[in-house]
Amino acid sequence: MLAFWYVLMHFLTYMVLDQYLNFTAILVDIPRRPFITIGMAAFVTLIPLALTSNNWSIRRLGPRWVKLHKLVYIIAAAGALHFAMSVKVVRLEPWIYIALVTLFLAWRAVRRNWRNHNRAYPRPT
Ligand code: HEM
Repeated sequence: MLAFWYVLMHFLTYMVLDQYLNFTAILVDIPRRPFITIGMAAFVTLIPLALTSNNWSIRRLGPRWVKLHKLVYIIAAAGALHFAMSVKVVRLEPWIYIALVTLFLAWRAVRRNWRNHNRAYPRPT
């Protein structure tokens, strides 16, 4: 939810300060600059996650909620990529975000492998 508010404010800053609320210019800019296309896709994908970030949705969607919220991994990767592509020269900071997202996703993949392995070959007791 916090991530959504951050991106919403970021998007509003772009709309007001960068594009002076010129909606035609914004619509033209989204497909024209790839880093904006990726940022916008990440923002749009965050909307269903923000709307379902409440106890009622968690209860109603059940296991589908977990599946839906896995989109956050794609959003995080898209955010890091968007940041790296938004700068002229990729210095240290964007690399830190890319490295963190990559490490986190790799760690999840390894953990899932271990869990599947332990389920398939349980330790004799
Ligand atoms: C999950 C979605 C997003 C994330 C995590 C994200 C994150 C970032 C970050 C960290 C930066 C570099 C620091 C900064 O200048 O603030 C940046 C730059 C930028 N973002 Fe996003 N952003 C997202 C979505 C968007 C969207 C939807 C737009 C507009 C359609 C947008 C437009 C921009 C622009 C224009 C810059 C360059 C600012 C400049 O240096 O002039 N971003 N974004």
